[in-house]
Amino acid sequence: MDSAALETVQAWLREAPQIAVLTGAGVSAESGVPTFRDAQTGYWAQFRPEDMATEEGFRAQPALVWRWYQHRRQLLQGVQPNAAHLALADYAQQHPGRLTLITQNVDGLHQRAGSADVLCLHGDLMEDRFLDLPRPCCHPDTVEAGDPPHCPRCGNLLRPGVVWFGEALPLATLEAAQRAARRCALMLVVGTAGAVYPAAGLAHLARDAGARVVIVNPHASELDPVAHAVLRGTAAQLLPLLLAPESMLPQSVGGPSGA
Ligand code: OAD
Repeated sequence: MDSAALETVQAWLREAPQIAVLTGAGVSAESGVPTFRDAQTGYWAQFRPEDMATEEGFRAQPALVWRWYQHRRQLLQGVQPNAAHLALADYAQQHPGRLTLITQNVDGLHQRAGSADVLCLHGDLMEDRFLDLPRPCCHPDTVEAGDPPHCPRCGNLLRPGVVWFGEALPLATLEAAQRAARRCALMLVVGTAGAVYPAAGLAHLARDAGARVVIVNPHASELDPVAHAVLRGTAAQLLPLLLAPESMLPQSVGGPSGA
């Protein structure tokens, strides 16, 4: 890490009246949550997430897909927010109204770290909802247990409350994120491959509206060409340095820097 690049971004952050932060799976990697594309291990390695995280995949194999989500829910129970989640939550508490946190993650770790009003573009892994439009007989409290649980009267299946491929994002949340992207003076893009839209489009929106865009990622991402600065390091390593009140420069943070 080039400490000059870090210092430059620290200065940009200090002078930005509004900051938007877009996070992806990488922000939770150091909590022990596998990133979306690395998540398939053991039994689940034989399945492609892209095939299961769709309505079509769920309708074709509801038990299999439900069990995959249960497996991911269990993984989450054993993990904790890391220094990156905590730095974001602390910063927002110390600078009320200045930071808008937008996440593609469904793991709830930002909220568990203390961040309020997180804009969750892709839903919440721990929530359920009915697959088909609920009928009067469909009540979450009276579902019959099973893989997946279902309405005992009409058979309507429960599904995880996440956004699947091909589905629309929650409109009000997306619009709030787009407003934040247009309004901010600086957007931090942390731990995302930048391959999934409309989430990745927020970085373009911010740049087009005149904001500085800064990427925090140990590897190249598809959004690197959009950025004014690329900090090559991990989220838990860099966010405390960027957002801590008395941001101390490290002696060395390892790895080359881009810009
Ligand atoms: P990906 O799994 O596609 O990418 C994870 C990114 O995190 C990569 O760019 C890694 O280089 C980076 N990364 C890994 N470890 C990191 C660390 N310690 N600190 C910082 N960055 C790190 O995850 P997303 O880009 O979040 O959508 O995926 C976006 C969406 O694609 C997900 O929300 C999901 C998936 O389709 C839906 O489920 C709708």
